Amino acid sequence: MSFHPKMAYDATFHKSSRTLADPGPPFTFTPERRARLDEVLTRYPPDRKRSAVLPALYLAQQQHGYITGNAMRHIAEILEITPADVEDVVSYYTMFYTKPVGRFVLNVCRTLSCALNGAERVTEELCAKLHIKPGETDTSGTFTLVEVECLGACDRAPVVMVNDAWHECVSPESVGHMLDSLRTRGESALTGCHLAVEKR
Ligand code: FES
Repeated sequence: MSFHPKMAYDATFHKSSRTLADPGPPFTFTPERRARLDEVLTRYPPDRKRSAVLPALYLAQQQHGYITGNAMRHIAEILEITPADVEDVVSYYTMFYTKPVGRFVLNVCRTLSCALNGAERVTEELCAKLHIKPGETDTSGTFTLVEVECLGACDRAPVVMVNDAWHECVSPESVGHMLDSLRTRGESALTGCHLAVEKR
């Protein structure tokens, strides 16, 4: 006699039908980026290759502009993990994109310090000037606007991270100048505003 209740139906096991986002074109790392990744892998034990998933994703995004399903598969093969493992990381972090983005990604922090110092008005001003909503890219393909959580520079709120560079103490009034500088000076305008803060 069994104390286990009898199941009224045959047990079925969950079978994932998960499919990766947009596979995109075929993807393999360029020889230079593959060499860079191989160098990163030397820092981890051979059975801990998965630890290099963030650097691998950065390299893929640098190469293609965003992360495709085929890029995730390629990374999974190299790191000996499943594509779903890679996709879990991609979907967790806001700095990885799964669709094309503008030349400059404006990441506006919306967490407490920035929110209290007017981040919402900064976002509104950017939306008005670029005629887009958060998550969208302007028609020229120059700017993508994203709202993100704390960028770690809370004492200089509100913070807007443009690509990998911090712009701190941003105000709604300074947003126009920031966009113009990025349009005219390109990457050289990505200097942040540390000096402006020190002068206060
Ligand atoms: S709350 Fe915005 S940088 Fe920390």
